[in-house]
Amino acid sequence: MSDPSPFRTRRDRLLALIGERGGGVAVVPTAPEAIRNRDTHYRYRHDSYFYYLTGFREPEAVLLLVAGDSPKSILLCREKDPEREIWDGFRHGPEGARERFGIDEAHAIDIVDEVLAEILADQPAIYFSLGHDATWDGRLTRALNTVRANARSGATAPPTIHDVRTLLDEMRLVKDDSEIALMRRAAAISVEAHRQAMRTARPGVFEYEVEAVVEQAFRRAGAQAPAYPSIVASGPNACVLHYVENERRMADGDLLLIDAGCELDGYASDITRSFPVGGRFAGAQRDIYQLVLDAQHAAVREIRPGAPWNAPHDAAVAVLARGLIDLGLLNGSLDTVLENHDYRRFYMHRTGHWLGLDVHDAGEYKQGGDWRPLTPGMMLTVEPGCYVRPAEDVPEAFWNIGVRIEDDALVTADGCELITAGAPKTIDDIEQWMAAGDAGA
Ligand code: GLY
Ligand code: MN
Ligand code: MN
Repeated sequence: MSDPSPFRTRRDRLLALIGERGGGVAVVPTAPEAIRNRDTHYRYRHDSYFYYLTGFREPEAVLLLVAGDSPKSILLCREKDPEREIWDGFRHGPEGARERFGIDEAHAIDIVDEVLAEILADQPAIYFSLGHDATWDGRLTRALNTVRANARSGATAPPTIHDVRTLLDEMRLVKDDSEIALMRRAAAISVEAHRQAMRTARPGVFEYEVEAVVEQAFRRAGAQAPAYPSIVASGPNACVLHYVENERRMADGDLLLIDAGCELDGYASDITRSFPVGGRFAGAQRDIYQLVLDAQHAAVREIRPGAPWNAPHDAAVAVLARGLIDLGLLNGSLDTVLENHDYRRFYMHRTGHWLGLDVHDAGEYKQGGDWRPLTPGMMLTVEPGCYVRPAEDVPEAFWNIGVRIEDDALVTADGCELITAGAPKTIDDIEQWMAAGDAGA
């Protein structure tokens, strides 16, 4: 398992934050297992908040953090079970989990209702993600009612429920050293996957063959899974933002858009590259590609401590709008195109999102009504794009060109670092990388 110290530091921090607010109990369950069909489950994925505080990856577990004068952490998890372990694999069991994960107290999950009712009695507040998981909403309600039923013996139920995510989201927004190290490793694996993909895609190859190369590269390097369904979208499919069928056979003249990133030890990476399957960018493709790349450069230049969240988006939009006018795809002045959002016909998504345990990571984008300022340790994506669908008023040369360029940026003391920069991105770099693959084949 991972070093327990970052997880302990985070638990202590959350306990201190709750303590500063008058005390209470945080209840942070992990994710339920999910049926895929009949008696087959999806591969299990823990809850990101729970994992952030524990490092514990087994299902059927909950963390209770009791803040106050003598703060403590309690984990409830599955008992060891030699019979079940033959079928489903190793379980830490409460005692093993307590020792290995640095938890103060551990119990079997089977007695969760009793433990909850006992812990919640006389607490000033509960910190819980109400509405996230109906089973847990019900369990918490039952525990509260048990406490209320004991009113005559002097127990009082917590009068307040806060959303624990408001505290945890702020913590998750600024990555600690162990998170940054992991995200660099995840980024490096995904970079290598994109490099291999560029040397696999050719006219006549199916999108799923490239998907297989990408996901093999993830797994071979030890990443547990894709962080989200891989998009391998050639030709017109690149203009479908969430295309995941990956079934088409690529033809000469196509661009291929690959949006794929691995998840390593719970942390996501998120990279998009777009390139010509024939190895050379042709006329209009070259124009659109260079425009999106210029927009990305403009966005990246805005990423620095103190800059508002939206600055990279505004910068990318300004470059794209100007370029779309110059290419004859939009009419009117730059001001009008920006004011009327005309560019949204070709660029309909935002330029980035927080990145971390979740690909669209936790954290508010505004504070007090204003875009929040960036601070060192934040991780965000920078992903401008341009998608041109066939239409009568669009020159045919541009039809079905879909380009997105996406990197993962770590905010540093004086700017940002693109931790995914190793995936070829300039027109020259992509063409050279693909040509060298052909020469060596
Ligand atoms: N791959 C998901 C995204 O780029 O937001
Ligand atoms: Mn993204
Ligand atoms: Mn992406």
